[in-house]
Amino acid sequence: MTDLLEFRWSWYRQTEGFDLTPGQPSPPGPGYFQHLGMLFDQPKARHCFACHASVVPATGGRIASEAIHPGVTCQRCHGHLADHVASDGADVPKSLKNLSREESVRRCAQCHRSADEQKLEDIRPDHAELVRFQPVGLAQSACFQNSPDMTCMTCHNPHLPLSAQDSRGIWQCLQCHNPDEAAQTHCRAGRTEDCLSCHMPQVPLKAPLTFTDHWIRLPDQKRTAP
Ligand code: HEC
Ligand code: HEC
Ligand code: HEC
Ligand code: HEC
Ligand code: HEC
Ligand code: HEC
Repeated sequence: MTDLLEFRWSWYRQTEGFDLTPGQPSPPGPGYFQHLGMLFDQPKARHCFACHASVVPATGGRIASEAIHPGVTCQRCHGHLADHVASDGADVPKSLKNLSREESVRRCAQCHRSADEQKLEDIRPDHAELVRFQPVGLAQSACFQNSPDMTCMTCHNPHLPLSAQDSRGIWQCLQCHNPDEAAQTHCRAGRTEDCLSCHMPQVPLKAPLTFTDHWIRLPDQKRTAP
């Protein structure tokens, strides 16, 4: 194997269909392979698998593609678990529950991007592309800055796909915001309304991709470029 090809088309769950892979030139370039996709050299391809696979064995600098463990599996987050399995569970791996909040968010941000990897001038409310990097947005929000314990797990279960979680409920917000309608003096919405539609809306990027704006803020603060 020499290079790896990133297919020009990706399968999207959102539409249950194929569409252009983000980053692929449109129309395709003049090269021999361009209608199929883009060729990546090994270092660049390895970089992709660092986030899209759990184990990426390489021999002599070449990815052993037949031995890849695709996807984000238990061991990618919990570490090497061979001793745990070999001991029939007696060797208990370190729990991820009591990590400091910085460490907890950093682990998710390894792949979802952390604020210090983002150019400072790009962190502004009218920069729509920022929605793609949930840890960057969340870190700007008053909720995160004023709640010392808030992590990604405040709203997410890392063990279930979003479709299997109660991920769009207002319970996420009511953990901290007073559920008593009368006490929400400034917010125009009642406690039974969907908080997300105004404060954490869905933002469409390149079709069919849609992301949730994790920069929780007042609705009149700009979300898209003027
Ligand atoms: C730093 C971690 C990271 C790296 C490196 C990375 N990805 Fe991703 N990729 C993600 C995450 C997280 C998602 C899901 C969220 C999103 O779409 O942004 C994703 C989504 C995708 C998707 C689905 C479409 C889309 O854009 O959402 C494709 C296709 C993809 N990546 C291909 C690649 C390829 C090819 C490379 C190497 C050039 C690569 N990725 C490198 C983290 C990464
Ligand atoms: C995306 C990262 C991620 C993946 C993948 C993942 N976990 Fe976890 N797991 C976590 C985090 C973070 C916690 C702590 C959750 C909390 O704070 O409540 C956790 C907690 C646990 C716990 C409770 C003990 C502890 O560490 O606190 C068990 C058991 C567990 N995971 C098993 C699994 C198994 C089995 C798989 C694979 C099927 C898996 N996990 C996949 C991130 C992950
Ligand atoms: C090794 C890289 C990696 C790590 C670490 C990681 N993620 Fe992800 N995550 C991804 C990729 C890649 C996707 C897109 C997968 C896809 O669309 O199939 C994703 C998807 C997601 C989704 C959307 C799932 C869905 O069903 O649409 C959520 C939510 C998420 N991650 C949260 C977390 C949280 C919380 C943590 C930390 C506990 C975490 N991730 C750690 C790479 C990672
Ligand atoms: C205040 C609650 C909250 C917190 C905290 C939170 N999220 Fe989310 N997240 C959501 C909601 C709501 C959705 C949309 C759920 C749906 O569409 O089913 C979402 C969706 C996502 C998705 C799917 C892609 C998207 O943007 O729609 C990813 C990936 C994700 N979150 C990652 C993270 C990571 C990483 C963290 C920690 C840095 C985090 N989230 C913290 C509420 C939260
Ligand atoms: C872990 C606790 C926590 C969670 C969960 C949480 N918030 Fe907050 N939020 C806060 C704190 C603390 C503030 C700072 C202001 C205050 O003290 O009331 C705040 C501020 C806000 C603000 C004012 C923002 C500004 O810039 O002035 C809005 C709007 C908001 N939250 C909405 C939400 C919504 C909607 C959700 C659910 C998606 C949510 N919050 C989840 C703790 C939280
Ligand atoms: C129909 C849109 C809408 C919905 C739905 C909505 N809000 Fe608001 N919210 C607003 C607006 C607009 C403001 C700013 C009000 C102002 O500045 O006068 C606001 C302000 C807030 C603030 C800041 C209040 C302050 O004192 O500064 C918080 C916290 C808040 N909302 C939480 C929530 C929660 C929690 C929910 C879900 C139960 C929710 N909102 C649902 C529109 C909405």
